[in-house]
Amino acid sequence: MKCGLGAWVNLALLEVVLITIPSKVYFGTQRTRIQFMRYLLKIRRIWRIYGPFGAFQELAIRRSCWSLENAEPGANKTKTSISDSTTYVRVCELAVADPLIFSKFRRCLEYRLILEHVTVRFGKKYLKIALQNSMALDFFAQIKLQNNVGNPVTFHFKTIGRTSPTSIRYLKVLCQLIELFGPLDDMRISEIGVGFGGQAHAIVANQNLKSYTLYDLPPVLDLTKKFLKNLADISNLKFIDGRNPEPTKSNLVISNYAFSELTRELQTMYLDKVISNAEMGYITWNELSYKELDGYSVSEILFLIPGSRIIPEEPLTYPNNVIIVWGTK
Ligand SMILES: C[S@@+](CC[C@H](N)C(=O)[O-])C[C@H]1O[C@@H](n2cnc3c(N)ncnc32)[C@H](O)[C@@H]1O
Repeated sequence: MKCGLGAWVNLALLEVVLITIPSKVYFGTQRTRIQFMRYLLKIRRIWRIYGPFGAFQELAIRRSCWSLENAEPGANKTKTSISDSTTYVRVCELAVADPLIFSKFRRCLEYRLILEHVTVRFGKKYLKIALQNSMALDFFAQIKLQNNVGNPVTFHFKTIGRTSPTSIRYLKVLCQLIELFGPLDDMRISEIGVGFGGQAHAIVANQNLKSYTLYDLPPVLDLTKKFLKNLADISNLKFIDGRNPEPTKSNLVISNYAFSELTRELQTMYLDKVISNAEMGYITWNELSYKELDGYSVSEILFLIPGSRIIPEEPLTYPNNVIIVWGTK
């Protein structure tokens, strides 16, 4: 959501006032003033992402979160995507090594920059769409168990009770996959960029698959394993290093906000080794890599995947996001 013009003008005026008036006139030392300016910029960033109401809610949520202040980036020194080499990877490493951090990793501010940032407003929209599937509540009975691991920020939702809004997004994607491709039973599924494995769990816990292959960075996959072990039997799951993906043949490949965040080089590797080997596909696409890492554009991807087409991302979480699908029934 965008900041309204009036709000921008107000913030800009406030900044001009703070910069121009000598600090002692309105408060304390230069240091306090710089801290206040930083705080103001932070509010403006949050406001831009969440909108006026969401910004205040997000600020309140952040008070219940913790931060990995000044941590070094994770041990992984490559750069294969937007989230590679960031503090996000470091949080994954620490959560695997330290049970205390694992018990609250989903409430870490740096982790929430990459995952776990679905707002209540979007949670409600995802729920409305998911509930069009008559099985949604049954599916959610399993998915809801994810809330018991990693202490996510949760809210109360009508019909389903208290949950992390992110889990509702996983429910919505599961329902949409079934609507587009039919029941997933007996399928071999591959997922590119799995995060802590919430989508994988939502699918594996509700459908009788032949196999599920998860691609991500090694430190992220270590955390995914640890997370999933708490909820399911993972002996049937395959975890593959996403920096140099080995080929997999699957019926369905999925990727949400992940394949579209990889470098062009990695995208080409996945296209050759994983995507072109899948009869069906579902890719939630944003423009991050296209704009920041010279990744493919949507039209290039549509050209490279025979039979693919775009459907709207509903709800739309960012301008120009789409879902790329192929092999639908
Ligand atoms: C924004 S998150 C999305 C996670 C998940 N799909 C979800 O919707 O909850 C992007 C994911 O892509 C992963 N990623 C980064 N580099 C990757 C690579 N080379 N191969 C596979 N996944 C990668 C990140 O570690 C992260 O888990």
